[in-house]
Amino acid sequence: MLVDFMTEFKLALKIGDLKDDEVKHANAGSLDIAVIKKDGKIFALSGKCTHKGGPLADGTVSGGNLICPWHGGAFDVDTGKASADTPWVTDLDTYKVRVDSTTGDIYVVNI
Ligand code: FES
Repeated sequence: MLVDFMTEFKLALKIGDLKDDEVKHANAGSLDIAVIKKDGKIFALSGKCTHKGGPLADGTVSGGNLICPWHGGAFDVDTGKASADTPWVTDLDTYKVRVDSTTGDIYVVNI
């Protein structure tokens, strides 16, 4: 029997709640997520920095990177990859996102 462990969480955010290059915090089940809008698309990355656990949803978005508010670690918004310019951080977990085009609701998939 095939068991599907995939779980989809509806966030307490809608696509219209974010401006381009803005990051906000959301919970998806037990996950702490940084939700970012870039070029009209929504991305979901782990909300905890891989360096010392800085709150990435309090960070900024610049040049396609999410910047940690504590020590400036930079992560590619599309991929979660740590920037070579900030070698004190490692790659972030990323999550699959679905946006309901009718309601604007944002869903994050945890596999
Ligand atoms: S906690 Fe994020 S760069 Fe140090």
